[in-house]
Amino acid sequence: MKDKMTLSQQLITLTVAASVVVFSTTGRAQEHKQPNIDASKLPPASTKKGVTYAGDIKAIFEKSCVKCHGAEKPKAKLNLTTLAGALKGGGDGKVIEPGNSSKSILLASVARIGEEDDWMPPKKNKANIGPLTAEQVGLIRAWIDQGAK
Ligand code: HEC
Repeated sequence: MKDKMTLSQQLITLTVAASVVVFSTTGRAQEHKQPNIDASKLPPASTKKGVTYAGDIKAIFEKSCVKCHGAEKPKAKLNLTTLAGALKGGGDGKVIEPGNSSKSILLASVARIGEEDDWMPPKKNKANIGPLTAEQVGLIRAWIDQGAK
């Protein structure tokens, strides 16, 4: 019988196995939904070279986003007032994948593809901030594809 586990050994093994399962599923739930964006629905990326946050993107965010995604108590914990904040993402994780705009939630929301609830700026907002233009979305797309510098 020396090869058989005692009942308490079996219970310990089960408990450990169960916690591993619970731990790994909750770990997964905290990761951000990885969107599979249909790139054919996105406006074309701008052909501009050397697109940067400081030179091109900050002004767009300042005009249309920072009212809600400012430095203090930003919505979804997403602070778009700095490059670091944009790259860090929100409470649920990253919203930009540098080099890969078709995996970037931020781009899907401003391009207004996908669920209406996720459109940014929100369809109805008190400040009446309108949607970004196709040119602005194309610039953000180019910025992300060029590495989100
Ligand atoms: C009027 C307020 C408002 C404006 C303006 C606004 N947002 Fe948002 N944004 C929100 C709210 C509220 C949420 C959270 C939505 C939710 O949790 O359902 C959000 C969520 C997001 C998310 C998802 C974050 C995540 O972790 O899933 C992204 C990305 C985003 N906004 C980007 C932008 C961008 C880019 C702009 C400007 C082009 C913008 N938002 C403008 C209110 C706003």
